[in-house]
Order: sequence, then structure tokens, then C-alpha cells
Amino acid sequence: MKKLLKELTESFGPSGSEDKIRETIIERLKPFADSIKVDKMGNIIAQKGTSGERLMLAAHMDEIGIIVTNIDDKGFLRFSNVGGISPFTLIGERVIFANGTVGVFGLEKMDDMKELKINKMFLDIGAKSGEEAKQKIKIGDMGTFYRECIISGDCIISKALDDRAGCAVLIKVLEQLKKPRYQTFFVFTVQEEVGLRGAKTSSFGVDPDLAIAVDVTPTGDTPEASKMAVELGKGPAIKVKDNSIISHPRIKDALISAATQKKVPYQLEVLEYGGTDSGAIHLSRSGVPSGGLSIPTRYVHTPSEMVNLKDMYLAVELLAGFIEG
Ligand code: CO
Ligand code: ZN
Repeated sequence: MKKLLKELTESFGPSGSEDKIRETIIERLKPFADSIKVDKMGNIIAQKGTSGERLMLAAHMDEIGIIVTNIDDKGFLRFSNVGGISPFTLIGERVIFANGTVGVFGLEKMDDMKELKINKMFLDIGAKSGEEAKQKIKIGDMGTFYRECIISGDCIISKALDDRAGCAVLIKVLEQLKKPRYQTFFVFTVQEEVGLRGAKTSSFGVDPDLAIAVDVTPTGDTPEASKMAVELGKGPAIKVKDNSIISHPRIKDALISAATQKKVPYQLEVLEYGGTDSGAIHLSRSGVPSGGLSIPTRYVHTPSEMVNLKDMYLAVELLAGFIEG
């Protein structure tokens, strides 16, 4: 799991530019899936089992990032966000582009830091002129945080744990699945961070009878955090509601009983904002009973997200239990 997580989180894949992470995931799926295909939008759909209801498991492989909007004569880049990024998390950070170019975030002179917005910031890739910058970077190029994945005991600190943690859980479930009672579709979606777009089209294509999205969820266990009954290391969180979905009782209850049967500790997640792939999936075609299994994560959408390995192992156990019955 540790090696897998490092490989996945350090791979490049902002929304809409998922080529590298897609390759990484497909390599991992190959030995275990009955079939693997990539749909027209770029979602990976791996199948295991050929009888029973159609179960869709979704985890998004894209990550938040930035997109270059302008290059000035001095070689400084202006940029916009891809997905939810606070400018405050960018100060002092580095970005990396698909071609390996690394840049540093800088900001204009500011009297009041409260005024900080992304359009007051720029990227410095060390170019001495616009011409030199344009040889490395073009308008529309995307970058992601440039950060190493740190593993210290049970604690993982990395960029893109949202949602490579979910991707890792799906891969580990596929690896250990022996007798699925569903036709199980492992879907690694694109463009979640810009509005659940890959989930929308892939769920139409898969046409599932039921679905579960595996993604991260914020916690309420840090100093003066907003009240939320999810903590790191207390087991995966079974989603009750977020802003995109009210979990279908059938799925929520089935996850709870799988956890009880397997003696897997779990938490219940009520997230007052945000959404995940199940938000798009449950509204596909004539509706799909859907729910979510979440990995408790601190500092979501920063370059240093944090998860606990125990929660990940338990999520794999719970989900495999759900599928094998
Ligand atoms: Co996210
Ligand atoms: Zn996510």
C-alpha cells in the first residue's frame, strides 16, 4: 500500500490532463482485471466478475492544479485555478508542469494580506524573458503542486491524496477480490475537481444498478476545527450526505452491515459542503442508488494532505466485504 500510494500521489494528473496518472493506474490494474477499457472522456473502466447486479466503484484520478493564462515580457506567468485552490496555500510552494518545468509562486506587493487573490500572484520559472518562458510553457499548460509523498509510520503526508487515496483503495480491493457477487466496475474518473464530469459520462456508459464513490473527506479533529464528527485513524467514513448527494439508504445500510460483519470500525460522514463523484452518478439515466466511502483527510486541497494508513486498510477490508458478501 505504501509503495502504491507514493507512486500514485507523485504521478502527474490535473483535471483534463490525466495521461500520466492513467498510465500508472492501468499498469497496476492489468494483472487483476478481467478487462480494462478507457472511454472517450478518458475514464478507466476495469471489470471484475461477470454475473450479478452491476456495481460501479468510482475514484477520481485527477487532482487540483493551476493553468497558465498569460506570459509577460519578463517571463513571469499568470495563472488560474483548476479545481478548488486557496491562494493562501500557494505561498512558498512549487509547481511542476507535465514537461518537468518547475516554478515558484510569487505575489505582488500587498499592504493587507486579506486582499490576496490568485490574480495577485504569478509563477516564476526562472526565465529571463517572455521568449525564454514561452520555449518551456504555453498558455493553457497545467501544473500541479510539486511535493514528495512522506510516509512516517501510519501517517501519510502528500499532495493529491484527494483522490489518489481512493484510487489506491480501489486497486487494493481489485487485487484481493476472489468471488465478487456483483459485476464490479472499477472506474477511475477524470475531471472530478472541476465538477464531477468524468463520473457523469462514465456512469451513463457503465449503466450501474448501484454505485459507491471512494473519496477523501475533511475531519473535525484539529485545533479549533469546525465541528465535524470524523477523525483520522478511527476507520473509513460511510457517507450520509454532502452537498451533491444524500446517500441511498440501501447503500448506506449495506455498507454499515458489511462493516459490522467484518468488525471494521467506521464513522458516519455528514459533510456540509463539497461533493464527490456519487453526486453525478446517482442522477445518471433514471437514477442509481449510490453512496460513498470516505478516507478521513486533514488539510484537503493543500499541498500537504494527511491520511492514516489504518483507515485505508480498513476501507479496503470494508469494501471487499461489501462486494463478496
Ligand atoms: Co477534491
Ligand atoms: Zn476528491
